[in-house]
This record gives sequence, structure tokens and C-alpha cells, in this order.
Amino acid sequence: MKSDRSLQKRLGISLTVGATLLWLLGVTASGLVAQHEMDEVFDSALEETAQRILPLAVTDILNRETDTGSQTAPALKEHDEYLTYVVRDRQGQLLLQSHDADLSVFQGPPREGFHTTGSHRIYGASAISDTLFIEIAEPLAHRREAAMEAGVALLVPLLFLVPVSLLGIWWIVRLSLRPVARFQHSIEARGVSDLSPVDTDGLPTEFQPTAIAVNRLLKRLNRALDAERSFTANSAHELRTPLATALAKVQRLKKQLEGHHLFEDTVQIENALRGLSTLSEKLLELAKAEGGAALSEHPQDLVPILAMVARDFEFRAPGRLRLSLPGLPVTSLLDPDAFAILVRNLIENALKYGATHHPIEVTLNDDGRLRVCNAGEVVPPERLARLRNRFTRYHTRPSGSGLGLAIAEAIASGSGMPLAIRSPATGQADGFEVEVNIAHAGRNSEPCT
Ligand SMILES: Nc1ncnc2c1ncn2[C@@H]1O[C@H](COP(=O)(O)OP(=O)(O)O)[C@@H](O)[C@H]1O
Ligand SMILES: [Mg+2]
Repeated sequence: MKSDRSLQKRLGISLTVGATLLWLLGVTASGLVAQHEMDEVFDSALEETAQRILPLAVTDILNRETDTGSQTAPALKEHDEYLTYVVRDRQGQLLLQSHDADLSVFQGPPREGFHTTGSHRIYGASAISDTLFIEIAEPLAHRREAAMEAGVALLVPLLFLVPVSLLGIWWIVRLSLRPVARFQHSIEARGVSDLSPVDTDGLPTEFQPTAIAVNRLLKRLNRALDAERSFTANSAHELRTPLATALAKVQRLKKQLEGHHLFEDTVQIENALRGLSTLSEKLLELAKAEGGAALSEHPQDLVPILAMVARDFEFRAPGRLRLSLPGLPVTSLLDPDAFAILVRNLIENALKYGATHHPIEVTLNDDGRLRVCNAGEVVPPERLARLRNRFTRYHTRPSGSGLGLAIAEAIASGSGMPLAIRSPATGQADGFEVEVNIAHAGRNSEPCT
């Protein structure tokens, strides 16, 4: 969930932007309504004030001794006027003004009712048969300030809304996607040895079809692999007896043909049959290893098994093995048969490809680390990486099937032990080394019952 396609990130950003836009739209709409209402209140106050001042101004003007000329209404106390007014006659001649009144605001002949100039809102009212007019002005700046303050008050919650919405959405999406992440991990953790259905509990409905499809696929894969394994195992098994019979017959024939010109041909047939017999054995081992029978139910000491396999080889190739066993038992969940097959394949390879003048080191440590190491030509890294594939070989001689390391890999991965193949061997300039820790068997996978 880290890339730009992260659902969490996308939802977080788009929902927050959406909520912010909607909020702004709401603020604009309510700001416009509030401004209209405020204008009405301000206008009504302006009108009220004009109606109140007008009778006083009329009395004041009528009581003057000279009936012409203007006069400024005295201020009782020094103050700034918020509302200013003038009283003029029909011709526009000034008769009375409030002490802060700016005459440039009241231009043109006096009018009744409301009108707005660039800077003021003005209300005019008349008295004495339209001979006296009062005009009262209020600066628009004041109204704008009030509208601005109301707008800002509505915008302030956005400062909280954006981070709270981002965090909230991030948290909720994360919480909702937790079962999806669990589902993803359980698919990732699956290998050839575990093709059981994935747990779909708690998965959001939108992901259920995917889970069902994955489980269906796993089932089909399992069935296909099962079919492949049983076919390999059955064919290898079926080949065993006829191959053994043919080999026995050829060997008998070989004896009878000693000294005959066909003797060489019989030897070649015998070798080919031996190769086929080994191949069918290896195929059977591979099918078993891939079938997932690499783990036993209870841990067992595998040191005696290693000693026994080594004794076998000692008999076949005296003096070539240097075996080093731990002083203590090494218990492992690895199936003893699978362990014997693994070790046999590794030692067989070391004998086959290792330099003859150096001993083959077979070491099992107290901590379960098993190393089979031989001297010899270094295998280039790009070839080394492919050797655990089936039917892949680096040396062309002596002949082989290319299945030994594939069997070792199948046993190791089936029992959850990482298998390391190195060339040159650790601490040496040449050679080949395979290392596996048998104490790790069964740690990452379920034991097979
Ligand atoms: N101990 C080893 N020393 C050197 N090369 C090895 C060793 N083990 C395996 N190899 C190389 O890895 C290849 C694959 O081995 P393997 O899968 O056992 O098949 P095979 O032995 O039938 O060729 C071998 O052909 C060989 O080139
Ligand atoms: Mg081999």
C-alpha cells in the first residue's frame, strides 16, 4: 500500500478535497445569505436613525433667527462619527450637517429612499411637504468588515476539518483494509507445499469474489500438481521392475558374450539401462519430495541417519569423506527418509564433481547446520543460480539427470529450510558447498500428517 496507487492515499486525499470543496461551497452560500440579512438589519437601523433625527433637525432649522445658511450640529463629546448626516432643502442647499459629515458623499439633489455610492450606503427622508431632506450615510467599509468577520468565522473550522478528515479517513481505510492485508500476506506465504484455501474471514464484501477466485485457482493448481506428481511417481514406479528385469537380462547376455564383437554393444546397453534406472529413481524421489512428505510429526535426532548414510558412501568410496558429527543429538522435524535422500544427493554430487585429491567435508553442527563441501572448479554465479531447477546441469561429465539439487531444493523448501548453494566454498578459492539448517525444518510450514 505504498505506491501512488495506494487506495488509502487516494481515498484520503480525494475525500478530504471533496469535503473541503463542499465546505467552501457551504461557506459561500451561507456567507451570501448572512450578508443579505445583515444588509437588511443595517438598512433598517439607518432608516430608523433618519426618522429619529429628522424632527429634531426640522425644529432646529425652523427655530433659527436667520432662515438661510448651514450649521454644524455640535458634538456633545469629542468622538468619531459612524453615521453622518446632512439636512438640505429641495434645491440642495445645505442647512445642517453632523460634525464629521463629508459633503462629497452627498452629491446631487437630495433623494428619498436608499441608494449606494462607491463608498457609502445612504438613506434619504423628507419633511414639510418635501421642502427639507435629511440624508444619512453609513460607510460600506463597515458592512464589508462585518461580512468578512462572519466569513472568516465560517472558514476557521476548515483548519481542523482538513487534518482531522485526512487522519480519520487514513485510519478508517487502514482499519478496513486490515483483513485485505492479512489476506494478501496469507497468499504470499503460500508455496508449492501449501496450497490450502486462503482464510476469507472478515474480508470486505468487495474482496470476497477475489478471495473465492484465488481459492478456486489454488484448488485447481493443487489438483494439477497432484496429478503431475502422481503421474511421475507412478511412471517411475512402473518403470522400475521392467528396467531391473532388462538390466538383469543384459548382464547375463554380457557374460555370455565375453570376447564376442557384440560385447561392447551390450556394455553400452547396460549403461543406458543403468542411466534410465537412476533417472526413474530420481524422478520417484522428486515426486515424493514435492508431494510435501518432508516433515514428520515429532522431532527426531537425525545424527544417526547422517552417520548411516556416510557409512554407506564410505563403503562405496573409501577415504573420500571427512565426516564431522556433533557431540549432542540434533533433533529436527525433518522426516528421516527425506533427510537421508537429501544427504545422499548432496554427497553423491560431491563425489561425482568434487576434485578427487581433496576430501569431501560433511559437517553437522550442534545448531543443526549441515554443510557438504568439496574442492573443484568454481561454477559461475549465473549458472549456479539455476542449478536447483530440474534437469539443469553445469558439468556435462560424468553423466547425470540434473535432478539431484532439484530434489534437495524440494525437500528443503517443503520443510521450510532455506538451502544455500555456494561456489567457491566458504573460506576457499574454489570448490562447491551446499548448506542447510535442519533445525529450521517445520518453522515456516505446517507439519504434514
Ligand atoms: N558438489 C558439486 N560440485 C560441483 N558441481 C556440482 C556439485 N553438485 C552439483 N553440481 C553441479 O550442479 C549440476 C546439477 O546437479 P544435480 O541436480 O545433482 O544433477 P546431476 O548431478 O544429475 O547433474 C551438476 O550437473 C553439476 O554441474
Ligand atoms: Mg546429482
